[in-house]
Amino acid sequence: MARRLLIAGNWKMNGFLADSLADTLATLMRKKQDWPFEMVVCPPFTLLHYLGKIISGSGMALGAQDCHLKGSGAHTGDISPLMLKDVGCTYVILGHSERRMDHGEGDSLIREKATAALGAGLKVILCIGETEAERDSGQTLTVNQTQLKGSMPVAVDVDATNLVIAYEPVWAIGTGRTPTNLEIQEIHAFIRKELLSLIGKAAEGVRILYGGSMKPGNAGEILALPDVDGGLIGGASLKAEDFWAIAQQSPSL
Ligand code: 13P
Repeated sequence: MARRLLIAGNWKMNGFLADSLADTLATLMRKKQDWPFEMVVCPPFTLLHYLGKIISGSGMALGAQDCHLKGSGAHTGDISPLMLKDVGCTYVILGHSERRMDHGEGDSLIREKATAALGAGLKVILCIGETEAERDSGQTLTVNQTQLKGSMPVAVDVDATNLVIAYEPVWAIGTGRTPTNLEIQEIHAFIRKELLSLIGKAAEGVRILYGGSMKPGNAGEILALPDVDGGLIGGASLKAEDFWAIAQQSPSL
């Protein structure tokens, strides 16, 4: 099954109404209809509604960076999957290592959120990845295997169209360091094999993104790896020219 490259920008806790980033990207996207990649921007909650209008009709999708597992109710400060749908989101990032660390999110909570998000009709970008200590002690594969198994949604049908996995080694996030291309390919192939045992044949269509210090200088070779189906980009997604330059390195362009 052909997998369409997904170039996703995780803006994290950055961005204001006055910024022109999304507008610039939408203008670039509008230049052509048939880009060989799908582009999604995931700004903070405060910008979702506004940016949804700015990028409307550009072919670019909107995503959020987290959601609650419930549809509504007494959960001060939280945002539900249905609310994300309401403001025009297609995607939601779940299980990012910064949420796992800053908010103590564990696999079972992430699984519940992912299940709720799929149930609300969102596509889930599920993040997994080992820390530097885990890598140094030779646990890379087992940590990713455990996180994948533990946080995969189970209660609803999971198929290739609504699930995306992002492999983000924690030690590569914002550090300028990356695994070697060989390591990235090996881990992505391992993740696909694990997916196969979890969801069967549909695994062949699930996109697996690489995330962690992806930038214009290394994107071309990473995106060309056979089991890499796109990137989840942090720092370099905050500059339109860098994010666009990464997308322009899609192998089929
Ligand atoms: P950087 O691209 O800044 O390393 O961040 C990656 C990331 O965490 C995306 O979710």
